[in-house]
Amino acid sequence: MRVLGIETTCDETAVSVVESDRDGEGRILSNEILSQIKAHQAYGGVVPEIAARAHIEVIDVLVKQALLTAGMKLSDMDGIAAAAGPGLIGGVMVGLTTGKALALVAQKPFLAVNHLEAHALSPRLTDGVNFPFLLLLASGGHSQLLFVRGVGDYVRLGTTIDDAIGEAFDKVAKMLGLPYPGGPEVEKLALEGNPEQFAFPRPMHGRKEPDFSLSGLKTAVRIEAEKIAPLTLTDIKNICASFQAAIVDVVADRTKMALKVARADFAEPTAIVVAGGVAANLAMRRALHRVASDNGLPLVAPPVALCTDNGAMIAWAGIERLRLGLMDGLDFAPRARWALEAKVSPHV
Ligand code: KG4
Ligand code: ZN
Repeated sequence: MRVLGIETTCDETAVSVVESDRDGEGRILSNEILSQIKAHQAYGGVVPEIAARAHIEVIDVLVKQALLTAGMKLSDMDGIAAAAGPGLIGGVMVGLTTGKALALVAQKPFLAVNHLEAHALSPRLTDGVNFPFLLLLASGGHSQLLFVRGVGDYVRLGTTIDDAIGEAFDKVAKMLGLPYPGGPEVEKLALEGNPEQFAFPRPMHGRKEPDFSLSGLKTAVRIEAEKIAPLTLTDIKNICASFQAAIVDVVADRTKMALKVARADFAEPTAIVVAGGVAANLAMRRALHRVASDNGLPLVAPPVALCTDNGAMIAWAGIERLRLGLMDGLDFAPRARWALEAKVSPHV
């Protein structure tokens, strides 16, 4: 089974061809991606209108390139998948319309994929993880702890009540005058800073509901930075290290709590999985690895290129849905907001 997947929900235009063999194992045949980071950097964040226009300019070329790299024609596909949300609506429309047009022309099944579901299922492509698993989804727009029981069967155990984890990295970076996206910059500078220089708070620590609240931490960083301004490079490195230590502690604590809830209320997971852009952070991975191994579970983190937004995860989610006959009509509307529904079965 082969599916072409299109991703345009944020600032990456991405197209990929993924194949699954008879045993259900996935193989990425092409994974084309064009980041718009440079176009947005001057504004310190993603500008929706610029994003939508940039997607339009490159999407056709990227589709051609993805097929070329895979050595395939459109007619070789068994389905066409496109992210239909959640995300910046202008960009979503570009990818969704392109996907529908390709499906119509080639007379192939169309799959409207939820971007979050694609992140959630990606470790099954990269590591063949079996259901059920505990997923920490940590990106610029989303922070969720989900119990993934099957395709379309997600229980949301916890979420953020204010900023997303990646967003907190980005906002702290901006405060310190670092470029967008802030996560990688903060991680790099943190390597040379003292994580104990500043005692930043660990919001929600120990709280029974595995939710996040990060705006207090962000404010604490702002207050400290203003107190010691003007900042030297050493100050910036120490703030980055201390902030990263705090947010890593918070995420590890919240994940531990989610695991407790999953075990008590649902079932034993096969693994703890981390996905989304923040999963690229090595300090975060180390801390989560400890949580997993303390609990006798493996930690699965897709390779960095597949943690951040990409087309392969959309194609793979398309394959998982196509296998189950979950196709969509060409009238499927783009969605700026689209929560992964928590379908709690009557047995739990
Ligand atoms: O999943 P993603 O590519 O896009 C969406 O937001 O959907 O995630 C991007 C986010 C940004 O907030 C970025 O700062 C963060 O992931 N990020 C990181 C790192 N690399 C990317 N955060 C912390 N450490 C990193 N190394
Ligand atoms: Zn994403």
